[in-house]
Amino acid sequence: MGVVPFLDLSREIQCYKPELMSAAGEVLDSGVFLFGPKIEELEQELARRTGARYAVGVASGTAALELLLRGFGIGAGDEVITTPASFYASAKMIAAAGATAVFADIDPDSYNLDPAKAAARITARTKAILVVHLYGRPADVQDLRTIADRHGILLLEDAAQGFSASVDGRPVGSWGDGAALSFYPSKNVGALGDAGAVVTSDAAVAEHIRSLSFLGYTGERDRFGAEGIAARMDEMQAALLLVKLRHSSELLERRLAIAARYDRELPPAWVRRPAKKGVCDVRHLYVVRCPERDRVRERLLSQGIETQIHYRFPLHRQALFAATAEPLPIAEQWAREVLSLPLYPFLTEGEQTRVLETIQQA
Ligand SMILES: Cc1ncc(COP(=O)(O)O)c(C=O)c1O
Repeated sequence: MGVVPFLDLSREIQCYKPELMSAAGEVLDSGVFLFGPKIEELEQELARRTGARYAVGVASGTAALELLLRGFGIGAGDEVITTPASFYASAKMIAAAGATAVFADIDPDSYNLDPAKAAARITARTKAILVVHLYGRPADVQDLRTIADRHGILLLEDAAQGFSASVDGRPVGSWGDGAALSFYPSKNVGALGDAGAVVTSDAAVAEHIRSLSFLGYTGERDRFGAEGIAARMDEMQAALLLVKLRHSSELLERRLAIAARYDRELPPAWVRRPAKKGVCDVRHLYVVRCPERDRVRERLLSQGIETQIHYRFPLHRQALFAATAEPLPIAEQWAREVLSLPLYPFLTEGEQTRVLETIQQA
């Protein structure tokens, strides 16, 4: 009895290896490793796909979040409302920009920020709502957009897990004033190392972010502004990502087909409620919920089925925020109960069957 790995990226790489090798070879032959044509091509492609006017390729999704916040002028004295149910970077980067993260509880079905609870946390110091499309399912961007507009604050998106997802045909990344993308290797479209991007339709903000990503470079040789970090994307990652993007539709189709099979064949109590009408969920992670999560996880592992937990702690309970944290009961229960099953385009049919049968026995 073999192991069903939670994720095996080598299969995807093997499939596209000739194209990836050729793209890498092109970069090596060009002798251009930064500020080159591959980055430009990638940025145009990302803008086209997210429906934002501009994209800036950066070093990672984490860097993209910091640059997004700083690019919109968010810093000391500002509050940013966000979700406790995400990867740590979503909230950490609010603090890194100098602002205060204010957590509002999540919706129990979507696990995304609850718009009414976010609205209730708005104060005179609130500068933005930073929404996360957790597990690839878009948050309630229509309501959040309305709330942000009504209060004259920004709506920013952490679309790290939601690339290609959409609401009413409009891609995530274009609902907010700006969005951060991650191409961490395990994402639906993954680089072969760290990479990310910021997208926005605001030309001045896009230029500002580009400058901030290179130490505040002014465009005049050797002259830098007071603010900036070192977070450029390189040509190699851009070239490799362009290959992955060429295949992103087929990869997404395979992912969606496996998720749909799990939806059909898992015990009904394990299956999440489907996304609302008009919401296109890109199923980045297949997350079930079980009150006896840790016992079930052990049991599955003993049968060779690897699982993961995304995430074990709600963000307001992390050390950086714990001192000021107020209880957020829905997020706290979420963190105790969620369990991620193996889901990736190259998970074989036999492995899917093993996952399903083992769960039925467990
Ligand atoms: C929701 C979310 N935000 C931010 C990040 C950070 O992206 P990166 O790992 O590319 O820095 C990730 C993923 O890793 C993520 O899942």
